[in-house]
Amino acid sequence: MAPLYFKTSGHLLVCTGPNCTARGSGLLYRALWNHLERHSLAYYKRGGSLRLTESGCLGSCSFGPSMCVYRQRAGGLEEGWYAAVDVPLAARIAQAVHEGTDLPQEHKYGPT
Ligand code: FES
Repeated sequence: MAPLYFKTSGHLLVCTGPNCTARGSGLLYRALWNHLERHSLAYYKRGGSLRLTESGCLGSCSFGPSMCVYRQRAGGLEEGWYAAVDVPLAARIAQAVHEGTDLPQEHKYGPT
């Protein structure tokens, strides 16, 4: 018997490395999970589509809390990298991934 596969719209990763933890990423991670739960956005909820996991260092330690997202779009794999993320921004990123709309530009860095 194979594991149950959940199709998702994207994968959110919140850095919980030491520098981001010192800047509150643990609270950000829990608050984002609560948001995904409350709004039925988590992949295991009816109509939900998002995965969220903790990540080790994402390489932007001086600018945390850091977060990144991966999702498939028509042009291929899209990645979004964010620094200085707070809960409202994390919620907007999650909503954009869930709805398949463009990612927010604020605090975004890296590939365009
Ligand atoms: S500890 Fe978060 S980016 Fe390095």
